[in-house]
Amino acid sequence: MTQRFDYIIVGSGIAGLYAALLARQHGSVCVLTKGSIDECNTKYAQGGIAAAVGADDDPGLHLRDTIAAGAGLVDEEAARILVEAAADRIHDLVTFGVPFDSTDGAVALGREAAHSRNRILHAGGDSTGAHIELSLSGVARLSRITIKEFVQVEEVVVEHGRATGLLALDSRTNTTERFDAGAVVLATGGVGQLFRVSTNPDVATGDGIAVAYRAGAEVRDMEFIQFHPTALRLPGVPIFLISEAVRGEGGVLTNAAGERFMPGYHELAELAPRDVVARAIVAEMQRTGADRVYLDISHLPAARITARFPQIYRYCLDHGVDITRAPVPVSPAAHYMMGGVRTNTWGETTVRRLYACGEVACTGVHGANRLASNSLLETVVFAKRIVERTIASPDGCAEPCADTVDLRTPESGQAPPDRASLQSLMWDKVGIVRDGSGLAAAAAALGAWQRAQPRPHDRPSHELANLLVAGRLMAEAALIREESRGAHYRTDFAETREEWRRHITFRKA
Ligand code: SIN
Repeated sequence: MTQRFDYIIVGSGIAGLYAALLARQHGSVCVLTKGSIDECNTKYAQGGIAAAVGADDDPGLHLRDTIAAGAGLVDEEAARILVEAAADRIHDLVTFGVPFDSTDGAVALGREAAHSRNRILHAGGDSTGAHIELSLSGVARLSRITIKEFVQVEEVVVEHGRATGLLALDSRTNTTERFDAGAVVLATGGVGQLFRVSTNPDVATGDGIAVAYRAGAEVRDMEFIQFHPTALRLPGVPIFLISEAVRGEGGVLTNAAGERFMPGYHELAELAPRDVVARAIVAEMQRTGADRVYLDISHLPAARITARFPQIYRYCLDHGVDITRAPVPVSPAAHYMMGGVRTNTWGETTVRRLYACGEVACTGVHGANRLASNSLLETVVFAKRIVERTIASPDGCAEPCADTVDLRTPESGQAPPDRASLQSLMWDKVGIVRDGSGLAAAAAALGAWQRAQPRPHDRPSHELANLLVAGRLMAEAALIREESRGAHYRTDFAETREEWRRHITFRKA
């Protein structure tokens, strides 16, 4: 039986829930999520949400920092929209009950790398994402939004060039259902599960990118995946983010020999852009033969550390490290996808009535490298614009790109891997430091795996199929881009090249 809604929103992180809460004023809304409602990347966001609301700040400075971080590929119009709408969207989140931290009655503003001002709002110290998720899901559950948990998108249905609904798998009954919709919004998050070491939860499997690509939407900037410099590195302990805000508060990185190394790599030392810090850590690990470096904040008063980072403090303590007394062992981990389903500044994709919002989207605000804490902001700014657009101009779409590429179908197949071997391949060959031969080998293996893959029939096989699409787009884009820029670094093309100041865009022929 087909169910019909004015809006079908896929994903229940901040992008999906915020869009749903706005859309409910204009029609019936259904949120589909493949797990339970709070299983999403948002919940794990620690640092916060950037907004130029401090007395010494203004959106122009925020724009300047965003453009500088993006290494020549930021869409300036989209970034201007982002920074100028920030204060209003923060106000909306407060209205939905998000309890941002304050000091002496004024909103507390933290610092993160490559920001020229303190402009990171946070909640519960380092539990910003969890508070946002709790607040939005609480309101959503009490409203007239239909929430379908354990239902995974399989395909976007496109008829006469327009998205008209979805096919989705109910993983509790293993049956496929059809949903018709006036507007389909993809808010499925990122692709961190492509990599062996990632800060992302199990659900981050690139579903939105894969279904949009199969539906004929353009996908852009896939070579730009951000590796967070500091994830907890302890044997047998699950990967856990150690927020950049720790460095923002004065945390210092030392190598296995106990030497502080970041001043030798960049004038901003620990507050250099993420890609610079991540590569410096890799270089120091190689130089010292260690599999970790150390992040030390123990010089700050213990009370300040536990108040500002209660979650990190507790997690580390539970695993034997007291961060008020000792440095934390850390190493880089895959964290955030700058690329994704290409949209214009209204969140429209190149397929009519198909929208994308949040990490799954490539709005252009991050360019080749995202400024910390701009991601949560991007979700709310563009979710609002999507809902506005569905009312004012429901049949618009992003202008197609004149210059797109598509994936070749390889001649022969090879039995597809399990998730762990895919993750190892991506980590080893499409990771922080890349080169042409590794990328070519990865692209070939991914293509052969994809060709031999049987038709997906349950949630794990759909997720693996989606990871293969996203991984292949990433490896192919990284192979095509013969330069280093932002988060994409190749030893065989270590310089940034002006002729590569352009995007790589995929569209299925
Ligand atoms: C962090 O807390 O370091 C993550 C923030 C972000 O990725 O923007």
